[in-house]
Amino acid sequence: HNHNIAIIGAGLAGISAAQALTQSGHRVTLYDKSRGSGGRMCSKRTTEGDFDIGAQYFTARDSQFRQEVKRWLDQGWVTEWNPRLYRYDDNGLTPSEDDQQRFVGTPRMTAWSRHLLEGLELVGETRIVRLHPEADRQWLLVDEHDRHYGPYDRVVIATPAPQAVPLLEAAPQLAQTAAQVQMEAGWAVAMAFEQPLTTNVDACFVRTGPLDWVARNSSKPGRAGLDTWVVQSTASWAEGHLDLKPEAVTQQLGQALAEVLGLHLPPPVQSHAHRWLYARPNGEYNWGALAAPELGVYVCGDWCLGGRLENAWLSGLQAARTLT
Ligand code: FAD
Ligand code: NAI
Repeated sequence: HNHNIAIIGAGLAGISAAQALTQSGHRVTLYDKSRGSGGRMCSKRTTEGDFDIGAQYFTARDSQFRQEVKRWLDQGWVTEWNPRLYRYDDNGLTPSEDDQQRFVGTPRMTAWSRHLLEGLELVGETRIVRLHPEADRQWLLVDEHDRHYGPYDRVVIATPAPQAVPLLEAAPQLAQTAAQVQMEAGWAVAMAFEQPLTTNVDACFVRTGPLDWVARNSSKPGRAGLDTWVVQSTASWAEGHLDLKPEAVTQQLGQALAEVLGLHLPPPVQSHAHRWLYARPNGEYNWGALAAPELGVYVCGDWCLGGRLENAWLSGLQAARTLT
């Protein structure tokens, strides 16, 4: 039996569910509050270059996911990134090379999500605020302007846990499960410099101070333009500075970057600070996906497993399998 399915959220989990369900012959429509898509896998485009300000790279450990990654590599949608890796702790900056394969979308993270969305129906700039039950176990989606979409006989919710809870009023058990998951915040700052910074660092895991990650964005394959950098704060720094003005965040995290690199930084010619309220789940779970088949409601997202792109993809796949 072919279903008419709505998916709320067009991040990697929603896209993965959409692809699997479409392949099984179902009719699928994705809804997202953002104009584009890709969710936390996100790039900021500027005149001085494009910056990955959400997910930085991904790893692939599950065999099914690795197969999928191979297909994306063959298509040229993703490329392996081999950064000169460092770590920074109380003893300073030290090389920290390893054998882990890491992949990035090319020429930016969102280019990959755009390719994945080809052929799928996406309704953007539409924030769904509730599900309205119709006769015959069908659902209407209601947006913030009280516009209705549907009816659908299956609904997949693929948003971060805190944004799934209000949509799960009709499925209180699923709502209760999702409400267990706290998601941590994070600040990301992107900076472009006129002259390349004199350092060998392409990426650095930071173990002390306000940062937890530093990346030379322009060291990723296919990135053109100036020397660009992206730094990300720890969750605890973000929690303490949630309402700090973006300019002040840029200033403070720019200073932290200078400390990590041991350099005096010139003023960036372009900078951008982004606050993620729901950057990552505060733990790992083994739910795969959540389901209330008697209602026709399914839930997926990275948080059903862990806080990584691979988890998001696998969770979407799991939701699709449970549904069919
Ligand atoms: P999301 O990508 O969050 O997608 C959910 C979508 O739902 C969004 O597009 C949102 O707009 C939409 N939405 C929410 N509510 C509604 C609503 N009511 N109506 C309509 N649409 C709605 N992972 C890695 O593997 N490697 C990394 O290096 C890495 N770095 C990261 C760095 C940062 C700063 C952040 C924030 C995350 C990082 N992650 C990383 C995690 C990774 O980005 C996520 O695991 C993954 O993108 C989650 O995908 P998802 O589809 O589950 O959720
Ligand atoms: P991974 O295997 O590269 O890294 C996992 C973790 O192992 C790193 O965070 C780091 O602490 C440590 N590590 C790995 N290699 C290291 C090395 N060579 N030297 C020192 N430490 C090393 O990637 P994986 O497992 O795919 O994780 C994804 C990444 O996404 C992680 O770095 C994680 O912190 C990050 N992430 C960031 C979020 C944010 O909001 N900033 C949200 C979700 C994930």
